[in-house]
Amino acid sequence: MLKKLVLYFVTLCTSAMKIFPAEFSHELGLISLRLLCMLGFRVTQNNDTNIIFKGISFKNKLGLAAGLDKNGDYIDALASLGFGFLELGTVTPDPQKGNIKPRLFRISSKEALVNSLGFNNKGVDYLVERVSVRKSSIPLGISIGKNFDTPLKKAKDDYLICLEKVFPYANYVAINISSPNTEGLRDLFNKEYFSDLISSLKLKQIELSKTYMYVPLFLKISPNIDNNYLKQLVEVILEENIDGIICTNTSNIHNHPSGKGGISGKPLLELSTEILVTLRSLVGKDFPIIASGGVMDLADFQRKLDSGADLVQIYTGLIYKGPALIDRIINAD
Ligand SMILES: Cc1cc2nc3c(=O)[nH]c(=O)nc-3n(C[C@H](O)[C@H](O)[C@H](O)COP(=O)(O)O)c2cc1C
Repeated sequence: MLKKLVLYFVTLCTSAMKIFPAEFSHELGLISLRLLCMLGFRVTQNNDTNIIFKGISFKNKLGLAAGLDKNGDYIDALASLGFGFLELGTVTPDPQKGNIKPRLFRISSKEALVNSLGFNNKGVDYLVERVSVRKSSIPLGISIGKNFDTPLKKAKDDYLICLEKVFPYANYVAINISSPNTEGLRDLFNKEYFSDLISSLKLKQIELSKTYMYVPLFLKISPNIDNNYLKQLVEVILEENIDGIICTNTSNIHNHPSGKGGISGKPLLELSTEILVTLRSLVGKDFPIIASGGVMDLADFQRKLDSGADLVQIYTGLIYKGPALIDRIINAD
């Protein structure tokens, strides 16, 4: 009962933060969460399940999507919310400020966010330091990207630098070439770059696995691709033995007045789930897929699993519904 009351209170606070500009309230929310965690706030899981996925042990199938904890500053606080895993980042080799503000907008009537942050982060070395001092043992994915001023021809080097640095600390590494907010980034999906990037990362992974444990590589895809293109991507991914796919990032198809950025939340659910269904049919039943996009309640979470996902991530749902959403999902039955 007390647990429910505290959750209700925290969820009310989440709603109250909507009076502030979106980016400021995200930061305020994370700082408040850290304080609450220090005061002993936890979302506890009623049952003691243990899911083994790609050799990693998860206590449930719900994860935090990349982008909320870009620098690993809030790992223990976010772990206390009951997630089965967290994806940190996206990080780049050098710190960078990202795009100019305002770059994060709420569309409350649609339970959506539009963001054009542009990989604002403190750099891979900072993230690695934060990860190495965390207390929680929650499984961590680390999402890697390229700096905005690295030309596409050299993008591979940025990904290789990040992969090497995060490898000893990650349970999986997410390759993010699907953000709409770094100019030209999605061009890395073009034939000219894609196969070379993927095979170089695979080679590096094999080399690093001789020193450290094997860490799976997941590629995060965009929802703005057609079926033919998806088919070609899948061929390369399977040929290169990439370990899994994260489906999907935000969509650049929206009519927000800012005219830029990617949309997430409720309006993304249909599109990202359609891609998930097609993807599952292309890769077969055993290939690992993490779903992301538009999960705002338990039914959406279940729909992602029914559509072929092995694990499911949320971001925008947490912003709109607060930690009560996690409780509803992980304690459903
Ligand atoms: C503010 C914001 C920042 C994000 N930053 C990243 C990022 O750095 N890397 C990434 O791979 N995805 C990023 N994403 C995309 C999310 O990880 C997720 O894939 C997407 O929002 C769809 O899930 P959702 O509808 O549950 O939010 C970001 C999303 C938002 C809203």
